[in-house]
Amino acid sequence: MLQTELSPLIDKFGRTVNYLRLSVTDRCDFRCVYCMSEDMTFLPRQQLLTLEEMLFLSQAFVELGVNKIRLTGGEPLVRKNVQSLISNLGKLDGLDELLLTTNGSQLEHMSSQLADAGVSRINISIDSLCPERFTAITRTGKLEKVLKGIEAAQAAGIKRIKLNSVIVRGKNDDEIVPLVNFALEKGLDISFIEEMPMGDIGSRDRQHTMVTSEEIRAVINTAYSILPSTETSAGPSRYYRLTGGHSGGSNIRIGFISPNSHNFCDTCNRVRVTSEGRLLLCLGNENSVDLKAVIRRYPGDMDILKTTIVEAMAHKPERHYFYDDDKPQVVRMMNMTGG
Ligand code: 5AD
Ligand code: SF4
Repeated sequence: MLQTELSPLIDKFGRTVNYLRLSVTDRCDFRCVYCMSEDMTFLPRQQLLTLEEMLFLSQAFVELGVNKIRLTGGEPLVRKNVQSLISNLGKLDGLDELLLTTNGSQLEHMSSQLADAGVSRINISIDSLCPERFTAITRTGKLEKVLKGIEAAQAAGIKRIKLNSVIVRGKNDDEIVPLVNFALEKGLDISFIEEMPMGDIGSRDRQHTMVTSEEIRAVINTAYSILPSTETSAGPSRYYRLTGGHSGGSNIRIGFISPNSHNFCDTCNRVRVTSEGRLLLCLGNENSVDLKAVIRRYPGDMDILKTTIVEAMAHKPERHYFYDDDKPQVVRMMNMTGG
């Protein structure tokens, strides 16, 4: 098919895809309890897309109408030379927004390079403000480093920085209000993400540790009054704003991401590519198309790659199914997919 004949990315349900989430590595310097097992084995390097292949693939998506790319992981900033990919992506014509999801561990020394490369929004994960607990949840992380990273990102002038927290019953469910206080103090938005049943991470029983968005909202309501915001973002977050008198200068947004419900599938505008080049049409579904095989079989052939991506849209499911007869059906781990 000729390049000019390719339509933008529209699926069977009329949804247009303009957002790519690209996992640049499955590796991470943390081992968060809800994401990884303690003794993770990572992919052999030759199985990963090279940075050049990631750029080529991103270019294909942008030529097909994607105008927003988020880099995720694992931890994207631990991939060697990732700065070169980021600055090349920043130069792609047609890409309006380059975003990053990170655990914050490398931001202290990388924030200014990221800002220079055109990264406009960063999501930083933070689940606890107690140093010992932070280390217990991440198994290897240091809170102090992440706090310094947040400051560095603000100092570098990254325009939109959002905090992401996963609340796990019995681990950090008493930190919901302190996390909101912290976000207020820093003038940053914060989203609470429901724990998702991804991959086999050992003995944890997620159906019992998962705290729903509704429960989290109820807890926040004991300290603040919050109202649904009329702003819509084309994403899974439902946003609320604090109302009335509270300390802290700015009025931040509080988001709730509830993957365990289906409330955002209708307006889904995104696809994901794993670090080994699998195109995933839905986070809660194992269906995928092997783009690495296409790139390696037809090196440099942009038209074949674009045609494969367009054809893959037919496999985007209507909604996600994390559970199949009560059993998690997604075997892929979160660090393969990138959130
Ligand atoms: N459920 C919900 N969120 C998760 N994350 C990682 N694993 C899970 C899971 N099983 C979150 C991280 C980070 C974002 C990229 O995804 O905490 O904020
Ligand atoms: Fe690393 Fe993020 Fe997974 Fe934690 S949740 S182990 S920071 S990839």
